[in-house]
Amino acid sequence: KAQSLSNMANYIVDLDQENVGSLKQQIAKLFEESLRLTVPDELDVEPAIAPCQNPRFGDYQCNNAMGLWSKVKGKGTQFRGPQSIGQAIMKNLPSSEIIDSCSIAGPGFVNVVLSKQWIAKSIQRMLVNGIETWAPKLPIERAVVDFSSPNIAKEMHVGHLRSTIIGDTLARMLEYSNVNVLRRNHVGDWGTQFGMLIEYLFEMFPNGEVNDQAIGDLEAFYKASKQRFDSDPAFKERAQKAVVSLQGGEERYRTAWARICEISRRGYERVYERLGVELEEKGESFYNPYIPGALELLSQQGLIEESEGARVIFIEGKNIPLIVVKRDGGYNYASTDLAALWYRLNEEKVEWIIYVTDVGQREHFEMVFTAAKRAGWLPAEDNKYPKASHVGFGLVLGEDGKRFRTRSTETVKLVDLLDEAKSRCKTALIERGKAEQWTAEELDETAEAVGYGAVKYADLKNNRTTNYTFNFDQMLSDKGNTAVYLLYAHARICSIIRKSGKDIEELKKVGTLELAHPDERVLGLHLLQFAEIVEEACTNLFPNVLCEYLYNLSEDFTGFYTNCQVVGSSEEISRLLLCEATAVVMRKCFHLLGITPPPPS
Ligand code: ARG
Repeated sequence: KAQSLSNMANYIVDLDQENVGSLKQQIAKLFEESLRLTVPDELDVEPAIAPCQNPRFGDYQCNNAMGLWSKVKGKGTQFRGPQSIGQAIMKNLPSSEIIDSCSIAGPGFVNVVLSKQWIAKSIQRMLVNGIETWAPKLPIERAVVDFSSPNIAKEMHVGHLRSTIIGDTLARMLEYSNVNVLRRNHVGDWGTQFGMLIEYLFEMFPNGEVNDQAIGDLEAFYKASKQRFDSDPAFKERAQKAVVSLQGGEERYRTAWARICEISRRGYERVYERLGVELEEKGESFYNPYIPGALELLSQQGLIEESEGARVIFIEGKNIPLIVVKRDGGYNYASTDLAALWYRLNEEKVEWIIYVTDVGQREHFEMVFTAAKRAGWLPAEDNKYPKASHVGFGLVLGEDGKRFRTRSTETVKLVDLLDEAKSRCKTALIERGKAEQWTAEELDETAEAVGYGAVKYADLKNNRTTNYTFNFDQMLSDKGNTAVYLLYAHARICSIIRKSGKDIEELKKVGTLELAHPDERVLGLHLLQFAEIVEEACTNLFPNVLCEYLYNLSEDFTGFYTNCQVVGSSEEISRLLLCEATAVVMRKCFHLLGITPPPPS
């Protein structure tokens, strides 16, 4: 009792403590102090901290000695080589409850073994104060994530699905890190295709009796109008005039345009709703009024030139210039993106703009960003804010190695794809006899959570820049690195806790977490690395880093659970707390990846 009371006192103090940053940041802070003492003339040196390559030597290492040696040698230094710098770094480390012991390896690497009491205490503190206290600290307050962004009336294809899934998870990670995220759907609602669509609409419905049913499948409507456009020169001419009327704001044309957008929007909102993705639409049309002003600013900087009747920006190292005003005087994708960039920086005052599209658009964004840098809108250095980043991703391939198509040959119906994931899950659950144990709603809810989660995870676990093969059997397998396996692992941990019959909320307050067994320590350290992994994933914009972390976490849990008896052991309380911490971190990973764990059953 006395012990648990003193623990309680601890937490009261800790509750007031501010968020101290990730484990890596905390270690870096200690080394920063040491470096200041060791090499007082080299104040710009940042501590280089990394997990140990070989866990036999320790948990983390400081890699500054070699680099410092090449800086100070020949400057009359007291040091004899990198190793003696390493020794000094080690000696000058401030005493801290974080570190258990240090050693030097090779040419001055300082290896650190963390205190397992401290690891245990940090985890327990998280259990009491919540996983939000482990949020990474980022140097920005507001960001735009520009993602999904399908084109009105054209098909929303798997590329847009990838953008939606990747963009959502990046937004979630930034939001968790207390960044205010503007989730932008930069839909293509302003292209020249609208002239054609509107003209066709007028032709089909001369009395304006248009409704959803009448247009029916917008993609088919698009195709039909395109055919008309390509085959009838008179129609083509009318369509081109219609663009001018629309952009000039003529009522009849605006109304038809809004109508078409509305029908299209309803289509893609069904996808977002299934995926649980929030987006705010600010389509290309929104930025149209800002284009002249933005181009004027670029012009004042002398960036815009005349070339073959068009107005362009030449970018060093690129064969073709960025066209900002077409020969016919119209604006395009690039002019819109320049205006949107200006708007986001100056009106929305964001520090970071993240664009999620396929890698095919890399060139476009490189040119837009370079133009913005030359205009002084963005700093020239990539490591400074405000910053613009393109998050490119590869193709989705089918079993045949070609671009993925769903069964219907006409178009890729994303909703059908998601529905199929769900129905396959449902079938698998029924085969496992769940229909008898669960209500119809439970069955449905679980199939949905697992099915959609599987589609998301299969996408996110790959390095986004590579192509990936869409395969239902693989993503819905309960073995290997899949959402199904991970959700199952999480459910198993929850059931261990439940079956112990202990009140875990009570244990968090009165129990003590210890990491006596080596496998407990491995798991504990992995848990504590959560914040730095999220930080890495969202600063380098690679969600697969978080997937890998989650998968390894479940592996570490298996190692622990295989070798450490939980229920009925003398360490039961401590081990239940470790189970709970694992479940909490896993749930946060699921949340950040946009996966909903099904309700416990
Ligand atoms: N609508 C575009 C497409 O489907 C993507 C837009 C990306 N965002 C942007 N600001 N350009 O390819």
